[in-house]
Amino acid sequence: MAIKSKINRIGVLTSGGDAPGMNAAIRAVVRTAIFNGKEIYGFYQGYEGIVNKNFVPMQSHSVSKIISQGGTILKSSRFPEFKDRLVREKAYKNLRELGIDGLVVIGGDGSFRGADLLYKEYGLPIVGVPGTIDNDIYGTDFTIGFDTAINTAVQAIDKLRDTADSHNLAFFVEVMGRDAGFIALNTAIATGAEATLIPEIPTTIESLCEYLQFERRKNKTSGIIIVAEGGDLGSAMDIAAKVKERIPDYETRVTTLGHIQRGGSPTCNDRVLASVLGCEAVKALLEGRTAVMVGQMQNETVFTPFAEACSRHNEINTKWYDISHILSI
Ligand code: ADP
Ligand code: F6P
Repeated sequence: MAIKSKINRIGVLTSGGDAPGMNAAIRAVVRTAIFNGKEIYGFYQGYEGIVNKNFVPMQSHSVSKIISQGGTILKSSRFPEFKDRLVREKAYKNLRELGIDGLVVIGGDGSFRGADLLYKEYGLPIVGVPGTIDNDIYGTDFTIGFDTAINTAVQAIDKLRDTADSHNLAFFVEVMGRDAGFIALNTAIATGAEATLIPEIPTTIESLCEYLQFERRKNKTSGIIIVAEGGDLGSAMDIAAKVKERIPDYETRVTTLGHIQRGGSPTCNDRVLASVLGCEAVKALLEGRTAVMVGQMQNETVFTPFAEACSRHNEINTKWYDISHILSI
């Protein structure tokens, strides 16, 4: 049954760093809007597309066969100009001119900060969908893209382990996550890494060296040390150099996985999450919810005000950190 609502034309955009599954979310948003008899416009390159009136009216077939594609057909951008109130005013005027009366924003906490301002200043109904590989958004157990990113990282690290073993090397592998260690911790456990450095649990070079030299770990022929970006000790390159200074017989190599973690066909989990959240976002908008992010916690759909989703962070499970150490002996 279609939901009755005063909202007739919905806009959708993807913003911030892209994430595998964003296309599946766009598809769900478009199809749910059409199912409910609403029109749907896609804006290109995040908020920039609203300001530049770069958009496309979408039909059901506009999103055919994109569920398996990485990236985002609507493209994405970092558009810092949106922090300027006058730029947001222009965006709102454009939305009014186009008759958009509700918006779905697929992105990370930065994108929701912009959405929250747009709502507070102009009262435009907006619902957010968490799309980022970092998994750092409060109000959802998982963000869209995280599962694919960790699987990509695991595949890459397994390959590094092969060559590390053949040549008795210690690989320092830097993974993404901005300032959160979720990608690092999950990939560390899944690849049997010897050590994990995450921003949430600060350490020193001295204690890292002590840890690497400890008993059996010292006698291992190869080592994988996962370094989350954004930590106090610097990049994997910096850390490897400092370790080498202190343990000169350590044969070190450094690999930064980089943007490979943001690409590729989404996993089944990401496709399902994106489909559910995209659908729930449009339903919520039509039912009168606004300035909230839709998430999934313990298999239930939950709504978190933008202000809370932006100001809080998901906590790292420190027990998992301990487990990664226990299993690395
Ligand atoms: P993410 O959404 O993945 O966290 P960003 O932090 O780059 O990525 O935010 C995406 C976009 O959201 C920015 O490029 C900008 O257009 C908008 N944005 C971010 N922070 C704000 C803010 N404080 N005020 C207004 N717009 C913002
Ligand atoms: O938020 C996603 C993310 O890939 C982070 O993990 C990373 O810190 C950042 O974006 C990189 O952004 P950019 O591609 O703009 O340098």
